[in-house]
Amino acid sequence: MFSQYNSPLQALSGLSSLAAGAKVYIKRDDLLHPYVSGNKWRKLKYFLQNHDPNRAVLSFGGAYSNHLHALAFATRQLGIRCHAIVRGDSDIKLSQTLQDCQKWSMRLHFVDRVEYRKRTDKAYLTQLAKRFDNAVVLPEGGFGARAMQGVGEIIPELEEIQPSYIFCPVGSAATISGLIKAAPVSCKIIGVAALKNAAYLIPIIEQQTGRLHGDNWTLLLDAHQGGFGKINQDLLAAVKDFYLQHKILLDPIYTSKMWLAFIKYAQQELTANDTAVLLHTGGLQGWQGFIERQKLSSEFLADTGLHSVD
Ligand SMILES: Cc1ncc(COP(=O)(O)O)c(C=O)c1O
Repeated sequence: MFSQYNSPLQALSGLSSLAAGAKVYIKRDDLLHPYVSGNKWRKLKYFLQNHDPNRAVLSFGGAYSNHLHALAFATRQLGIRCHAIVRGDSDIKLSQTLQDCQKWSMRLHFVDRVEYRKRTDKAYLTQLAKRFDNAVVLPEGGFGARAMQGVGEIIPELEEIQPSYIFCPVGSAATISGLIKAAPVSCKIIGVAALKNAAYLIPIIEQQTGRLHGDNWTLLLDAHQGGFGKINQDLLAAVKDFYLQHKILLDPIYTSKMWLAFIKYAQQELTANDTAVLLHTGGLQGWQGFIERQKLSSEFLADTGLHSVD
């Protein structure tokens, strides 16, 4: 599952005025694997390759979590037992994401918001690990040194174009931290926070990378489109236009916000001498939740080929 394979690097044509004449590429990590796609593939690779298969894995997420979805599939493939602490109520109909997780043998344990907040508390984690057969804890979003190591492997895959900018979406900040650590200082890493009030991530990234905010990286805090899990007409229109022009589907939570932020940023900061890479971090299964909750029009679904998303 994690054998070496460079994801395609695709030039985005027809952008010139949108991107101030810069050359723009999209790194198609969404194509790495049908279920363990995008940054999940990068973040899980070294964690699972180094995992003792006799021990279970325990991780965290919400009802539509891309991370849990990918982890469930990967652990199933590798024959590793897996538990998930899920924020929410077990009495509510399971999302398609969680139904898939269950189908792939992930054991789901529902907790309320108050308990979920303890997910980084050491004593709580020790207690959970004990309760679940001495499971190894993988933080929410797969955050950790192994994740950053895997993400860092993107940089040598970009060597032939020597980008001056890499744009990536940000959730737990493992992906941006891995990129910052591995990139030369001549390459600016621009992260786009998917969550509202994400400034708390700045010291975390500084601590993980040893590089200060503003050095060769920036976290854009105002491109969340209303908050995590929120979609609006601008976002949907951008996803549709992008799909019609490039035949590439962005996801609703992360890469769509990155694209909107990129257009704004490019017009202010990029020049015709720049080469920018947008990292497609996958997450396409995230559309399922919006389809289930009937948040998308049939025109949108038809225009974006979304009926075929698994
Ligand atoms: C599709 C997608 N893109 C981006 C991110 C953000 O990555 P990170 O949590 O490493 O910041 C996530 C979360 O894992 C994701 O599922």
